[in-house]
Amino acid sequence: MLQLIKRCPEYTLEYKEYCRELHDNHVIYFRPANPNSIDENWFARTKLWYDKKEKGLIEGQPISFHYWAVDDGKFIGEFQLRTEFSDKVLSGIGSIGYAVKVSEWGKGYGTEILRLGLQIAKEHGMDKVLLTINDKNAASIHVCEKLGGMLEDSIEAYNDAEGHHLLKRYWITL
Ligand SMILES: CC(C)(COP(=O)(O)OP(=O)(O)OC[C@H]1O[C@@H](n2cnc3c(N)ncnc32)[C@H](O)[C@@H]1OP(=O)(O)O)[C@@H](O)C(=O)NCCC(=O)NCCS
Repeated sequence: MLQLIKRCPEYTLEYKEYCRELHDNHVIYFRPANPNSIDENWFARTKLWYDKKEKGLIEGQPISFHYWAVDDGKFIGEFQLRTEFSDKVLSGIGSIGYAVKVSEWGKGYGTEILRLGLQIAKEHGMDKVLLTINDKNAASIHVCEKLGGMLEDSIEAYNDAEGHHLLKRYWITL
């Protein structure tokens, strides 16, 4: 059964493999950690940074919570939740980031991660979330619409990986 769990050291090497697959497949819509930087000490090295993010103590970054998706002990993907509607969230990164290991695509995991993630957002006291999705990212648009995403608009955006692109902004009411 798929579960969203808090990051934990036991899954570090599987997380690295997941990052490696996204990296090697040139996935541009979601950028995980650089797989080359992940070793057996990576979890301990980054823990404080993630703890600070949850408390909003990283300058310029919204409060955010990071979860890993595992199915019967197998690493599947990740889910990130940003609980504030800062300018950065509204005009670019949205409330949610999620991704599935490339070799596990098309098995229903993306839908399940987002569905479980919406429950977590509710538990954080949110009554709606914003998903911002590159208009070329048909799989994510499909998953978002399936789970109730209502299109507000499309805005222009830019980052190094995606270049100039259009972001569709979807609200999901919880
Ligand atoms: C988006 C993503 C999470 C989907 O994960 P997944 O495990 O393949 O998702 P699911 O198997 O639950 O569902 C995918 C759905 O999209 C559909 N889909 C896939 N590619 C599609 C395409 N090119 N056009 C339209 N629909 C598409 C599938 O048919 C499926 O629909 P169904 O459930 O109605 O049959 C995954 O592709 C991913 O990790 N992408 C890179 C990271 C990313 O884009 N994250 C989202 C950023 S906003």
